[in-house]
Amino acid sequence: MSILKITGGRRLDGSLRVQGAKNSTLPLLAASVLTEGLSVFRNCPRLTDVAATVRILRHVGCRVYEEGDALYVDASGPISPEVPDALMRQMRSSVIFLGALLSRCGEASLCLPGGCELGPRPVDLHLLALRTLGAEVTEAGGRLCCRAARLKGGRIDLPSPSVGATENAMLAAVLAEGSTVITGAAREPELLDLQDYLRSCGALVTGAGSGVIRICGAEKLRGGEKRILPDRIAAATWLAACAAAGGRVRLYDACPQHMAPVLHALRRMGCAVSTGENLIVLERRGDLLSPGPIVTRPHPGFPTDAQPPLMAASLKAAGTTVMIETVFESRYRHVPALRSMGADISAAGKTAVIRGVKTLHGGDVTASDLRGGAALAIAALSAEGETVLRGMEHVDRGYEDMAEALTALGGEVSLRKE
Ligand code: UD1
Repeated sequence: MSILKITGGRRLDGSLRVQGAKNSTLPLLAASVLTEGLSVFRNCPRLTDVAATVRILRHVGCRVYEEGDALYVDASGPISPEVPDALMRQMRSSVIFLGALLSRCGEASLCLPGGCELGPRPVDLHLLALRTLGAEVTEAGGRLCCRAARLKGGRIDLPSPSVGATENAMLAAVLAEGSTVITGAAREPELLDLQDYLRSCGALVTGAGSGVIRICGAEKLRGGEKRILPDRIAAATWLAACAAAGGRVRLYDACPQHMAPVLHALRRMGCAVSTGENLIVLERRGDLLSPGPIVTRPHPGFPTDAQPPLMAASLKAAGTTVMIETVFESRYRHVPALRSMGADISAAGKTAVIRGVKTLHGGDVTASDLRGGAALAIAALSAEGETVLRGMEHVDRGYEDMAEALTALGGEVSLRKE
């Protein structure tokens, strides 16, 4: 188990490359099993969730190898439709293998996935999409079995824009017979990455990012390639850290156009934010102000994954900040740990109210989930004294090397193995 030690109170000053997006890498890797060839993904982040996905790919029969920041997946051999429970439980997004394996093998068998504890995370919309395309779905002993000799195109109307269900629907439809229209689709930028990759494999897909995706099914797909887009949530985390601690940070290989609501909130807090091509610079010299109410929404709204980092940045902001979480039911699990560091927060149901305090103090705190862990690290940077952050296994799911990144930004941070 590793522990992060953070000495707070230093202004940040540094430059950092933004890692490739976790939420793009995982569905792209799963999509590669649809092809009967070799795919290459560049700019892959080194994350434990990526390693878990690679283990699933190898288990089902893909050959996977690494070269620098590239991952090569050769899916030309026979593919098994079954994923063992232990591999599935390592991360939530493993459910994306449902559509991919069903499409490729005509069947898929896997248990319900693991992942962050953010409240109930049902898969009804994923199953709705697959059933609409003709899959027969049965559930027994916690395992889901999907079957269809060949899926048939159709109209999938998603009642809410689930990212994972949209991805599963796309993966199922690209090898289905005939055309599919997905309405109510999620519009997150990661879906455009998936569309680009599928097109490079020969799939006919349009509309990703618009809410209506149209797909014309193909008989077969060849291997393809994709450079993974920058991780907008990792970028939001580093910017929130600088807002909280003060100073100036420069993020390169970033994608500011995917981050409008986050950059807007940081500007309202009194930070100077400038953007260029693949570049974001944030500077905070004076006092922090409350960003005003923050309501999380599906893209292009304020992203739920950036809510905990922004909450941490608001702890010492003048005034009262209200946050309303509308995407997940239980996304305030980091609040008790922030309170133990001197934060004044009350949270009930979807709403959290943060009253700005003058000082925070270091503490011995444990991450309860990935972005909640990031929030604790940010609070620690702006606190007086030393913080010991445990539960780093959650943080490592989504940040390449948080200690190294925060050190590059000028933080006093060290990683200790216990
Ligand atoms: C993805 C992201 C995650 C992000 C989330 C919302 C990945 C790997 N993860 O997760 O980081 O926080 O989008 O931006 O890309 N829901 C249902 N039924 C379903 C599916 C979802 O009710 O079948 C609900 C969920 O419980 C949640 C909401 O829909 O309340 C959004 O979930 P969804 O967009 O599916 O998130 P994920 O794809 O799991």
